[in-house]
Amino acid sequence: MAARTYPISLLFFVVLLHAARFGESESFIGVNYGQVADNLPPPPATAKLLQSTSIQKVMTSNDQNLMSQLLPAMQNVQNALNAVSLGDKIKVSTVHSMGVLKTSEPPSTGSFHPSLSDLLKGLLGFNNGTGSPFAINPYPYFAYRSDPRPETLAFCLFQPNAGRFDSNTKIKYMNMFDAQVDAVHSALNSMGFKNVEIVVAETGWPYKGDSNEVAPSVENAKAYNGNLIAHLRSMVGTPLMPGKSVDTYLFALYDEDLKPGPASERAFGLFKTDLSMNYDVGLSKSSQTPATPKTPVSPSPKPKKGGLWCVPKSGVSDSQLQANLDYACGHGIDCGPIQPGGPCFEPNTVASHAAYAMNLFYQNSDRNPWNCDFSQTATLSSDNPSYKNCIYPSGSS
Ligand SMILES: *[C@@H]1O[C@H](CO)[C@@H](O)[C@H](O)[C@H]1NC(C)=O
Repeated sequence: MAARTYPISLLFFVVLLHAARFGESESFIGVNYGQVADNLPPPPATAKLLQSTSIQKVMTSNDQNLMSQLLPAMQNVQNALNAVSLGDKIKVSTVHSMGVLKTSEPPSTGSFHPSLSDLLKGLLGFNNGTGSPFAINPYPYFAYRSDPRPETLAFCLFQPNAGRFDSNTKIKYMNMFDAQVDAVHSALNSMGFKNVEIVVAETGWPYKGDSNEVAPSVENAKAYNGNLIAHLRSMVGTPLMPGKSVDTYLFALYDEDLKPGPASERAFGLFKTDLSMNYDVGLSKSSQTPATPKTPVSPSPKPKKGGLWCVPKSGVSDSQLQANLDYACGHGIDCGPIQPGGPCFEPNTVASHAAYAMNLFYQNSDRNPWNCDFSQTATLSSDNPSYKNCIYPSGSS
């Protein structure tokens, strides 16, 4: 698994301020404010742009090159916050590249480089003591670059694929993002810090590159970011941390025209600096445009309403059901009932959660046949799938 590479050291440290959140029933999606650019719009224009999206927070970061000074610097910032009674509200942390991991595949074997172990123990002790998160930059994009096979691309883009089996946990991973985040979880666990929260401080995919770069494209960037957002909004979590989305900051708000390296490095932006979209990732408040349309849009007569439920066809793979679940929950329906504590959480299976979400998506849309298509994996049924306290709304309600 490749990590985002930085020229000087294996570790990329920044101090980030992460506002503590209370109540975690919703996913959290922030964005990085890329700053290696000389053509950024004025702050008020950026503020207005952000208001038109469902982006919740913007992160800016500052390089800290001297690793030995990092922990004392963090302690100083924390002391300053404590002095003004903000110590509980604003969390100080550091951001690490995936390069801090020595092993990450399969995810259960995730571990840190032994040479960093003393340093990380100090930092994790700080995280654990102050309740601040461990921030990491997973980039499935770089994993695909180092292994450019079609099945790796599908795994990295949250698209239907054969999955990767972790024989230690018997978990089949369906996407690279979950695999990378769980590898970090395993590494924290092996150091005795499994309760330190993980935050994804950066992740993204470039929409263009040089002619010899295979991974960047509008299609891939839109699929990665759009499907990631849908996955986070579904609140399924990762296999090792179910039922909770990792707070995630997309990289980046704007292109960074001054970034050195291949053209892709200057093309991670969701927006152009003239405030227009590079591509529609589904974050705009006005257009809930699907990131990757999976249903045809041609008009056809509506079915007779009443007593109809949208259910998965039999024999549909878990990966497709997961994609349907992510899609449905990422598009404005209330997936609370299938989260822990909800009346439809049990049975806690992808099939059951997808069935609930797919039906709700159908009922909340115009109840056209194509709202119950899901790439031809769903069908309408007059049999009520409700059970116990788990009520599936029907076309007649
Ligand atoms: C983490 O913090 C908790 C609560 O303060 C403490 O009991 C525990 O020992 C800490 N864990 C480590 C590995 O330092």
